[in-house]
Amino acid sequence: MILVTGGAGFIGSNFVLDWLAGSDEPIVNLDKLTYAGNLDNLQCLQDDPRHVFVKGDICDQQLVSTLLARHQPRAIVHTAAESHVDRSIHAPAAFIHTNINGTFTMLEAARAYWAGLSGAARAQFRFIHMSTDEVYGTLERDDPAFAETTAYQPNSPYAASKAASDHLVRSYHHTYGLPTLTTNCSNNYGPYHFPEKLIPLVIANALAGKPIPVYGDGQQIRDWLYVGDHCSAIRTVLARGRAGATYNVGGRNEKTNLAVVHTLCDMLDQLAPRASGSYREQIAFVADRPGHDRRYAIDATRIERELGWKPADTFETGIRKTVHWYLDNSEWVARVQSGAYLDWLDQNYAGRALENRT
Ligand code: NAD
Ligand code: DAU
Repeated sequence: MILVTGGAGFIGSNFVLDWLAGSDEPIVNLDKLTYAGNLDNLQCLQDDPRHVFVKGDICDQQLVSTLLARHQPRAIVHTAAESHVDRSIHAPAAFIHTNINGTFTMLEAARAYWAGLSGAARAQFRFIHMSTDEVYGTLERDDPAFAETTAYQPNSPYAASKAASDHLVRSYHHTYGLPTLTTNCSNNYGPYHFPEKLIPLVIANALAGKPIPVYGDGQQIRDWLYVGDHCSAIRTVLARGRAGATYNVGGRNEKTNLAVVHTLCDMLDQLAPRASGSYREQIAFVADRPGHDRRYAIDATRIERELGWKPADTFETGIRKTVHWYLDNSEWVARVQSGAYLDWLDQNYAGRALENRT
């Protein structure tokens, strides 16, 4: 089996669903269920014995060590993090705690567990660390895209905390030989994306008749990757990646924020038209994000050439699937916005042990 951290979040839950759709190898899913963790995402796995959910903190080394000893995973896929840049600007402490201390705890527990393995189990063990392109800082319009060799220049507390965790992961491979792999991925989008991030926020606000906030001039560029393609990249890195390597992951889909917002408004105009006028009329330019990175772009040559990974979706196909998903799952959005999704743990786990398989 494999141990996934943060498997109730946006990418983590997509990864868990994707993994179990294609494999019978069980998953232990360790998630603290912060505001970003949502068990609604995993409702279809409620009675699936291949999914063992554990509510807990990656900073709790005793818990992590117990889980490793009990379940003997062949790999750890570490996705748990505080992930929202704006929150890191308002309240950075949680980012330092979870992203740095939490990754350190995971590495320490993994190192002790791995040291106790032998033979094939030791040779095959992998620690996958999910990181971000934001560690590289920002690009000018004509700069080459971020490669794995680009120097780290993180600009937000979020990016700095992820950079610190990447350095820790690197050092555990270099010093102890722990078979780590790090992926640095660009902006994801798709189902179960928490509506504090640009794409789901635009869809939710548009449909609710609220202003659609665009920071600054809206000319910042992000390199968008459909979340299913990030999941396939992680599967590929786990299967064929070189221990100690880092892999940049991206879909070569650079768009300005305003272009993304216009695309979403135009699609909604077709699929869920307003009584009159266009959703574009709801766009509101607001004060910029402090320290806002201007452009991200990923050079994914290494993962493409070495491991043969390629994204299946273009921005056009991915964004269409995403808008349809949000239109078909308005209840999911409503439960996030009302806070009802936080009740799921009580509803589902009242009277049960939190780890539902031992
Ligand atoms: P998310 O915020 O949607 O989910 C994070 C999950 O981690 C949540 O389920 C939360 O409950 C859990 N978590 C937080 N703190 C925890 C703790 N101390 N212990 C256990 N669980 C904890 O994040 P996401 O957008 O799915 O991102 C997942 C990972 O991918 C992060 O490491 C992020 O840095 C990275 N990443 C995200 C993107 C993106 O576009 N979203 C792109 C590249 C990399
Ligand atoms: O690049 C990878 C990163 O992408 C991940 O590491 C982060 O975890 C993830 O949150 C994401 O970070 P961004 O800051 O790029 O994503 P966000 O959706 O918050 O913002 C995307 C762009 O849209 C960014 O330039 C800021 C802008 N924006 C965002 C919001 C929430 C707006 O213009 N208006 C908004 O209301």
